[in-house]
Amino acid sequence: MKFSRIVWAFVLSISLNGVTNACQRHYTLDDFIPYLTASYLQQRVQEVAHRIDTDYAGKEITIVSVLEGARPFTRDLKNALKSKTQVVEVTAKSYEGTESKDLTISGLDSIYLKDKDVLIVDDICDTAKTLKKLVEKVQEKQPTSVKTCVLLMKNTSKNSTKYQPDYQAVEIEDRFVIGYGLDYDGAYRDLNCVMALKSSAA
Ligand code: IMP
Ligand code: MG
Repeated sequence: MKFSRIVWAFVLSISLNGVTNACQRHYTLDDFIPYLTASYLQQRVQEVAHRIDTDYAGKEITIVSVLEGARPFTRDLKNALKSKTQVVEVTAKSYEGTESKDLTISGLDSIYLKDKDVLIVDDICDTAKTLKKLVEKVQEKQPTSVKTCVLLMKNTSKNSTKYQPDYQAVEIEDRFVIGYGLDYDGAYRDLNCVMALKSSAA
């Protein structure tokens, strides 16, 4: 009797361990496939910069860049823009692994945006929680205008209010992507292309 209990406890612990491992699956670069090439991204950055220049003609744009993810996009967008720009940086964090979690924003309190034409620049719009929260917080600082711009617009049902940024360079499917600033647990931001998780096609 006692022995059979030990056997059951052993079997149970092995199965629970299997379930835990499956939930905590860790991905490597082999789990991702090429999705958007570097040259395609650069072409779309030029196009979005042209639209922004047309809309902001004669104005200075204060870019609020959302770190860490928007760093490469902000750099290339700033270089492509003919308009005068000033870049300030804030930090937002919401992803753990491939899951969207609670949002934290820092660095905005000390930034002066009164009477500025503000363009919030982020890497990707997914649930849109980050952009909506940032627009709300920036508006409290009484800027002249606030608009939003993302490199990637994810076509997902998680964006329940159907929020649309003012500018989006590329629309993508509901997939987890890395590269050109986008990370998986802090890794792969330095890729100059975008790659998609194989198993994340909607
Ligand atoms: P949102 O607030 O859900 O729109 O998500 C915004 C942030 O989540 C982005 O700025 C990214 O940092 C992160 N994020 C959303 N989708 C992805 C993805 O597919 N790969 C990596 N990061 C992502
Ligand atoms: Mg981000």
